[in-house]
Amino acid sequence: MSSLIQAIPPQILYPLSFIAGLVLFLGPISTWYRNKKVTELTALNDLADLGKPRIEGKRIDGTAVVAGGSVAGLLTARVCSAHFSRVLIVEPEGWTATAEGLSDEARLSKAENGKKPNIRTRVQQYTSLHSYQPFTYLALKEMFPDFEAEARKIDPAAIAPCDFQVHLGGRHLRPPLGFYKGTLPKFLTVSRPAYETLLRKLVKNNCDNVEFVTGTVTGINIDVDGPSQGLEGAGTGDRIQSVVIRSKEGVETAEPALLLADCTGPSLAALKWVSTPAKPLKVPKDVYDPKMYYTTCEYNIEPAKFEKVHFPGGFANASVIYNFLPDSRMERRVLLVFKRENNTLQFVCGGWDLAARPKSIADVRSFMSQIKGVDPVPDYMFQIADALEASNADATASYTDVKLPPCHFVKYHQVLDKIPTNLIAVGDAVLRVNPIRGQGCTKAAIGAATLSGVLQYCNPVFHSNSSREVLPDQFGKMFFERQNSRIQPVWDQTKAEDYGWDTTTPVEGESLTDGAWVRWYTWNLIAVALNSDSVGAAVYNSAMFIAPGTDVTTPGIALQVAWAGIKVGSL
Ligand SMILES: Cc1cc2nc3c(=O)[nH]c(=O)nc-3n(C[C@H](O)[C@H](O)[C@H](O)COP(=O)(O)OP(=O)(O)OC[C@H]3O[C@@H](n4cnc5c(N)ncnc54)[C@H](O)[C@@H]3O)c2cc1C
Ligand SMILES: *[C@@H]1O[C@H](CO)[C@@H](O)[C@H](O)[C@H]1NC(C)=O
Ligand SMILES: *[C@@H]1O[C@H](CO)[C@@H](O)[C@H](O)[C@H]1NC(C)=O
Ligand SMILES: *[C@@H]1O[C@H](CO)[C@@H](O)[C@H](O)[C@H]1NC(C)=O
Repeated sequence: MSSLIQAIPPQILYPLSFIAGLVLFLGPISTWYRNKKVTELTALNDLADLGKPRIEGKRIDGTAVVAGGSVAGLLTARVCSAHFSRVLIVEPEGWTATAEGLSDEARLSKAENGKKPNIRTRVQQYTSLHSYQPFTYLALKEMFPDFEAEARKIDPAAIAPCDFQVHLGGRHLRPPLGFYKGTLPKFLTVSRPAYETLLRKLVKNNCDNVEFVTGTVTGINIDVDGPSQGLEGAGTGDRIQSVVIRSKEGVETAEPALLLADCTGPSLAALKWVSTPAKPLKVPKDVYDPKMYYTTCEYNIEPAKFEKVHFPGGFANASVIYNFLPDSRMERRVLLVFKRENNTLQFVCGGWDLAARPKSIADVRSFMSQIKGVDPVPDYMFQIADALEASNADATASYTDVKLPPCHFVKYHQVLDKIPTNLIAVGDAVLRVNPIRGQGCTKAAIGAATLSGVLQYCNPVFHSNSSREVLPDQFGKMFFERQNSRIQPVWDQTKAEDYGWDTTTPVEGESLTDGAWVRWYTWNLIAVALNSDSVGAAVYNSAMFIAPGTDVTTPGIALQVAWAGIKVGSL
């Protein structure tokens, strides 16, 4: 070896050894860089401490108030229950706090004339099809020891290997079975009413310091003692001293609180709390409208009638049946089909500014036959329609239309010095995206896991004026900044895709040509992923929130994407 090196002239040896050094150096650098991205862009590193007792031991003596008792509120309350001596979930829909709120049996009542009432009056999409990526499964498993057992009581197949049967523009993007050696990550697959009621039951079972209060959070009182100047973590922001709760009888009471979490979804209630006539505040908010329409069609099925359906792997074994996501250059229709608990089958027929509103199996069949993709809708989908018709499934079917409200992004992270330091917001109260990729509930789980990470390493400070322990002044800032770097990519990606349809109304000041580069990259990335298990794995993992989004823009993948783009000449 040494004689070989002596034989190489120095003008070649020096650059060679520089490259060798660079490679040796870049290995650890790229590992370091990726670890940093995992911490910044995902909540994976918060899983280990999630739901565990405080590292410090004793819970913080005081109350955390969670406004809103839906998915984000329940997950947030679970996290707070490990850290505060008392947690209140304030929710105006009183029935959710009764036995009725703990089981989804109400959902299974028969539909009349194709309609089923939505008992959840403040959650429009309660009866729409929902799915949840593997990150949600991982978080629930850490939060609740009885999660899997309780989920299997709803449906023995409630937890399954996560294969979303994704067909992008018609092409089947298979899950990375090679990468996972045949065993895909698990996910929870039950209807939204079943998920929400399961979550409520798990909170009741596991968190004895959580109280369910029927009421509405209407405002806040700021600490007259001012910020904790001169103390550890001192800042300049105001601190919430108490939370105003209005009971269903209309009586308002002030509840002293150390933390207030806005989990009020599209009510965006905190925008009202932080702005007073004396101190008006306008929190920046981006809004755009993809004009999405969704019809969720739900059928009760007899499995025996589906034996003739040629679904790969067998219909009886399937969990997700089909997901068609269109390429905006040729189609605006969406078709999502999931098997659900108690032998129900859910279809979503929807799309961007779409007039079609199926009201029968025949309508669904014609919707499917109109879909334009590189590959057509597979035969087994039409065999399913046949089986539904043969068993007269329309007699008990329901068809629920939803015109989706516009998407919004409330930028609390840009006004951190103007909002109370112990106010946070999780779930749709911060960010509501186009639900086409079913990310809303996992986004809420990421918010809750982020809160857990912040609370595990944050110790209360002693506030001398009030002689009590409070959260440090940096609390809200730490939370919102961390949460934002993990959820804003979801907004950026779905918005860029929605801008591909010319019917989308963009954010004020933006144009539909914005995001063209993201769309170009995404199309070519998919083209590469179709033929590569490792690139497919990067796409799958980041879409499932179990890897940072930067995994699909590594130099190696970016080169393949650029090459694919040049080949099809769409550069
Ligand atoms: C058609 C459709 C399909 C969807 N599909 C999926 C999917 O497949 N997968 C997925 O993950 N997500 C999906 N989503 C998104 C998902 O439903 C939301 O992200 C999720 O419901 C957000 O939960 P949340 O708790 O933040 O808000 P919400 O569920 O909207 O709940 C807010 C709660 O706050 C309460 N509230 C309101 N004001 C107050 C107040 N002042 N005080 C106290 N309480 C208050 C309300 O009563 C309600 O219970 C879909 C959305 C739509 C519209
Ligand atoms: C105590 O409260 C007064 C106002 O009541 C305020 O000016 C002062 O900064 C506070 N001191 C601390 C340490 O919070
Ligand atoms: C369903 O799965 C089981 C076990 O994996 C397998 O034995 C069976 O053949 C499958 N059914 C069909 C119809 O393929
Ligand atoms: C739904 O399925 C579960 C689990 O299989 C079962 O315990 C429950 O009784 C069923 N409910 C109805 C209304 O059929």
